[in-house]
Amino acid sequence: MWCLVPLLPLLLAVQDAHALWKVWLPRDISAMTNSCVVIPCTFMFPNGARTHHGVNSIWYFGQPYPQLFPPVVFKSRTDVVHESYKGRTKLLGDLNQRNCTLLINNLGTEHSGKYYFRADLGGANIYTYPDFSELKVLEQPNIDVPEEILSDENLELTCYAPDNCPEMTPEIQWLFTDYLPDPEFTSEYAEESNTAVLSNTLSFTPRPMHNGQLLGCRVFYPNTTLAYERHITLDVKYGPRSVWVNVSSEVMEGSSVTLHCEVDSNPAARISWMFGDQELLWDTAANVSLALDDMSAAQEGVYTCVGDNGYGAMNASLYLSIKFPPREPVVNSSLTVLEGSTLALHCSTQGSPAPTLTWLKDGELVGTIVADELSVLEVFEVTPQGAGQYRCLAENEHGRASSSLNVTVEYGPMLLDESKCTVVREGVQCVCMAVGNPEPTIEFHLPDLNITINQTDNRYNYYTHTDGHTSTAMIKLREKGDRNGGAAVNVHCSMSNLYGTHSVLLELQQEKKYMMAVIVGTIGGVAVIAFIIAAVRYVGHNNKKEEAPAGTDRVLDNPALYYSAVKKDKQNLRKKVLKTELLGSKFNSILEETTGEEGSYAPMGSMANLERQELNYAALEFGGARSREGGARRAGDDGSDYSEIKAK
Ligand SMILES: *[C@@H]1O[C@H](CO)[C@@H](O)[C@H](O)[C@H]1NC(C)=O
Ligand SMILES: *[C@@H]1O[C@H](CO)[C@@H](O)[C@H](O)[C@H]1NC(C)=O
Ligand SMILES: *[C@@H]1O[C@H](CO)[C@@H](O)[C@H](O)[C@H]1NC(C)=O
Ligand SMILES: *[C@@H]1O[C@H](CO)[C@@H](O)[C@H](O)[C@H]1NC(C)=O
Ligand SMILES: *[C@@H]1O[C@H](CO)[C@@H](O)[C@H](O)[C@H]1NC(C)=O
Ligand SMILES: *[C@@H]1O[C@H](CO)[C@@H](O)[C@H](O)[C@H]1NC(C)=O
Ligand SMILES: *[C@@H]1O[C@H](CO)[C@@H](O)[C@H](O)[C@H]1NC(C)=O
Ligand SMILES: *[C@@H]1O[C@H](CO)[C@@H](O)[C@H](O)[C@H]1NC(C)=O
Ligand SMILES: *[C@@H]1O[C@H](CO)[C@@H](O)[C@H](O)[C@H]1NC(C)=O
Repeated sequence: MWCLVPLLPLLLAVQDAHALWKVWLPRDISAMTNSCVVIPCTFMFPNGARTHHGVNSIWYFGQPYPQLFPPVVFKSRTDVVHESYKGRTKLLGDLNQRNCTLLINNLGTEHSGKYYFRADLGGANIYTYPDFSELKVLEQPNIDVPEEILSDENLELTCYAPDNCPEMTPEIQWLFTDYLPDPEFTSEYAEESNTAVLSNTLSFTPRPMHNGQLLGCRVFYPNTTLAYERHITLDVKYGPRSVWVNVSSEVMEGSSVTLHCEVDSNPAARISWMFGDQELLWDTAANVSLALDDMSAAQEGVYTCVGDNGYGAMNASLYLSIKFPPREPVVNSSLTVLEGSTLALHCSTQGSPAPTLTWLKDGELVGTIVADELSVLEVFEVTPQGAGQYRCLAENEHGRASSSLNVTVEYGPMLLDESKCTVVREGVQCVCMAVGNPEPTIEFHLPDLNITINQTDNRYNYYTHTDGHTSTAMIKLREKGDRNGGAAVNVHCSMSNLYGTHSVLLELQQEKKYMMAVIVGTIGGVAVIAFIIAAVRYVGHNNKKEEAPAGTDRVLDNPALYYSAVKKDKQNLRKKVLKTELLGSKFNSILEETTGEEGSYAPMGSMANLERQELNYAALEFGGARSREGGARRAGDDGSDYSEIKAK
């Protein structure tokens, strides 16, 4: 128990002693290299600790523990100090006044660190205070820069210069501020814990253009060569302030194109290329290129480049138009219409630039040329000639395309001029030609006989042929075996189709006249004259021999002659017979070379053919079986006078 009694006062004494050992110095202090620093310092120790030896002191660098042999900065008892402090240090304070203020001259960065004060009162009263002052030796002044510098917002930059060297007073200067907009400078002097700091604040409103600008702070001591500079580069954040894209342009379908986008922003923006709502490409960079291959018409439109860096967003657009040759036009499908109807034919296509549309009918321009997406060709009251191929042609500078449709016009039957009856060797041949759509059917009607002929039969030798919308029908009214046929003078042609029936009386043509002239010309004038003389003589001779009574029923070999005889007087009859016979036989022989057997008709492929055949028919003998009992030949309704047939 007795042990405990002395222990308690001892502990109290230790605590008390600690309370009395005390030092006051700035926790932090700074100075510029090559300048000096005064570390203000005062200390206390217990009164009882004082001895007659007086007060000595040591300043240590780095460590408070002597046993670790820290560099001695200053030692009052001797002048032995660490190498790096030789001639540099001086105790400004009076130790007896408990003033431990220390001066360090000619500072280098190696002098940065903790400084500990140790009081030596003699004997065991020697003590290193745990509090220290930390010195920072600066090669450059410090500048306070805000973490983020925003464009268009006021900026304050503060430059600091320690002012802890009594012999020298620093000054602060801002550098490279010439082009700053309205810079303001504010100087300030601050003291804290016996240390002093001079500061100068530069304030201005930075713009995007100031991004990257160099600024500097210069600290110098007037009348010395000491000067210190710190440079900073401004990092001014700003949203995109310009977005550059290509100008709008035209590209050919199928080609490739590269679009550039450049965004001026800080930091780099997320740049994206948009087509409508679709994001095609993005990157965080200063520029982004969008490569498009094999352009199609669907890719025509507005391309927008959007730059966004969190500080703002901006966009720019361009229009890309895709050029392409006209597409195959869309036209109505082929159609069949009734004559007289009105048609509206539509033609539409796409092309870029917009194509012109032209309507052609069977290769000929019809209607107007329009520069529109749609061309409507109106055909009013279409005629049979309106039938054909209608082609819509679309053209632009890159090409052309066309589509066609066929218009078929239906119409009632119409008689063609070629229709007629002609005299042929053994009767009368009638040709009836008609057009119509659908092609007409033709029948012959012989009212005198009350018969209708629409198919080949032995008596009438009906033939029909159709070529396109043209129908041709022929009948040959033969004498042979046609006992009743003799009265079939009037031949009606009746043509009909869906849209109507039409009936006409066919005329009997008198083309022998013309043909004779041809033959005469062919044989030659001299020969004809010789023939005629011979014929006249022969006739005269025969006239005397065969003096038949008038009105006697005669069966003539050649009915044509018979008809002639009816009209002319008997005197002339013989002449005519012979003339005709002579010329006729000659004619026939010529004809037989060109036409085949009677009744074998080659199909008529064309009008040209028909014309040729027409001539042939015209040359054939009139073989129509006229009534042998009737004395007078009744002229046809058309007024044909067969007796006019004569050689001229
Ligand atoms: C300590 O001494 C310095 C230098 O002589 C002096 O400037 C300072 O005022 C003194 N400090 C006190 C507290 O007396
Ligand atoms: C610097 O020296 C000039 C004379 O050389 C003197 O007039 C001036 O006061 C000095 N300035 C300082 C700050 O010592
Ligand atoms: C866009 O601009 C870039 C650079 O100026 C150029 O190389 C490119 O060909 C341009 N693209 C178009 C489509 O004009
Ligand atoms: C695009 O940006 C790159 C770096 O991101 C740069 O090297 C290049 O020069 C820029 N191109 C243009 C045209 O600005
Ligand atoms: C482009 O900017 C305008 C305003 O400047 C905005 O209305 C538009 O939505 C933007 N477009 C895109 C695709 O961001
Ligand atoms: C052609 O087609 C258009 C629409 O495609 C239609 O309006 C028009 O009536 C058609 N014309 C004919 C003649 O059918
Ligand atoms: C139109 O008719 C011609 C023959 O006349 C034919 O070659 C062509 O294919 C037809 N066109 C259409 C669209 O039917
Ligand atoms: C014509 O023939 C038809 C029968 O084929 C007959 O009904 C009609 O009476 C005849 N007409 C005449 C005028 O003979
Ligand atoms: C001829 O006419 C009759 C009665 O009109 C008809 O029944 C027949 O089919 C027709 N023949 C031909 C080949 O057209």
